[in-house]
Amino acid sequence: MASSLLSHQMRYTVQRSLGLFVPRYRCVSKTATKSSLDFEYNGPSMKTEVPGPRSRQLMKQLNVIQNTDAIHFFCNYEDSRGNYLVDVDGNIMLDIYTQIASIPLGYNHPALFKVMQNPQNLSTFINRPALGILPPEHLPEEIERSLLSIAPRNLRKVQTMACGSCSNENAYKSIFIWYRNKERGNSKPSKKELDTCMINQEPGCPVYSILSFMGGFHGRTFGCLATTHSKSIHKLDIPSLDWPIAPFPKLKYPLEEYTRENAQEEARCLEEVEDLIVKYRKKGKNVAGIVIEPIQSEGGDNHASADFFKKLREIARKHGAAFQVDEVQTGGGSTGKFWAHEHWGMDDAADVVSFSKKMLTGGYFHKDELTPDGPYRIFNTWMGDPSKNLLLSEVLNIIKTEKLLDEVQKSGKALLNGLYDLQLRFPHIVSAARGVGTFCAIDAKNEQMRNTLIEKARSKGVVLGGCGERSIRFRPALVFKEHHAHLFLNIFNDILAELK
Ligand SMILES: Cc1ncc(COP(=O)(O)O)c(C=O)c1O
Repeated sequence: MASSLLSHQMRYTVQRSLGLFVPRYRCVSKTATKSSLDFEYNGPSMKTEVPGPRSRQLMKQLNVIQNTDAIHFFCNYEDSRGNYLVDVDGNIMLDIYTQIASIPLGYNHPALFKVMQNPQNLSTFINRPALGILPPEHLPEEIERSLLSIAPRNLRKVQTMACGSCSNENAYKSIFIWYRNKERGNSKPSKKELDTCMINQEPGCPVYSILSFMGGFHGRTFGCLATTHSKSIHKLDIPSLDWPIAPFPKLKYPLEEYTRENAQEEARCLEEVEDLIVKYRKKGKNVAGIVIEPIQSEGGDNHASADFFKKLREIARKHGAAFQVDEVQTGGGSTGKFWAHEHWGMDDAADVVSFSKKMLTGGYFHKDELTPDGPYRIFNTWMGDPSKNLLLSEVLNIIKTEKLLDEVQKSGKALLNGLYDLQLRFPHIVSAARGVGTFCAIDAKNEQMRNTLIEKARSKGVVLGGCGERSIRFRPALVFKEHHAHLFLNIFNDILAELK
């Protein structure tokens, strides 16, 4: 694997030095300046419709093996660079969706190639350990260098995992173990508890719950799915748990214009949260934890104010429930701060913060008291992957040295201002532009129009993603600059003008 990557990098270097790598330039925007990343393409370049003939052929081939209904097109990852994703038909597209918000530095960042090329790192890439029993010598040092360097305030413990869902799933388990131990006091689990847990009965399996919010998304595994309420397609036919679901504030945008109405809406939701906690306690289903996204993403880029989160955190504390902030999608810098919850300005914002996507490894930070009290209570074979920590260290290094969080604030401002402008000029098509950093969204007038806009953008060389019923979400990499925002806005403007 390593040698093929080395040879690819060499091929690329040779192509460049021989002048064979000719960026295909399409002059779309007068305001778009040349890319600062000189290895990047200068703009989208479209050769076929998307999906093109080669993509369609591959879909047919894969469809024999598995369901391919969700596939948009097949990609050529070798040729993709920076903000540009190349497909198997040779189309070069500006990617503002980045593998569902999971590429921190764009495609094939040279610094990450170097990490792969370093002979000292090779064994970490080749030998994936069962971390919970046989960790490598450098694991503590590597975690300190990577994850602990960006640990949320007050959370000095971290457990790595493989993906977002298994991070949340294990975070919930930690919350339940902590909650049960609080109730037990100093005593050990009884024989009855040990026996009944084996047959899924109380008291060994206590009837606790996690309170979640309508429109929230926390993953697709069983426990996570009980707290996911964004779209029915994720949940249909899967048995689930009777856990409390509170309304998430439905705010009006722009937030500054509707402060009074929005505050009332948030107060209504907070009241409902407290009512549900009391109601479920009466039912014997104590709320052990509350889980929430700082910005509901899959559910439609729904925002709430810092004041809402502060009060919610207080409610959790008052009722002895752990407060978990799911930063799987919002974490890693795209809001202009490393963690979206930093925008709340709190010293003690959470008991648990889960992450994945742009962090390259899954996992969760947590308070000391949520550390499991014995072996194998929180455990799986891999429990993460040290090679991802290596890559993450380099990603964090680049974020720092290239001041990418400042860049995100600049390009995010350009993007959001552009979206505000477009919704003023095309109010019958788009509205409710919103966002923090580059973590932005806009609503189309209905679902069909949203899908049309995404398709038209793709045909003009821009990859976008949808969320909620009728929203478009913008999830560029951290190397998305102001000129990429202008490039996109010009293309989007043309699309909206054509639809007029
Ligand atoms: C907020 C949030 N939590 C959890 C998940 C689940 O992550 P994964 O798809 O890696 O299981 C996602 C995925 O989109 C997410 O956005």
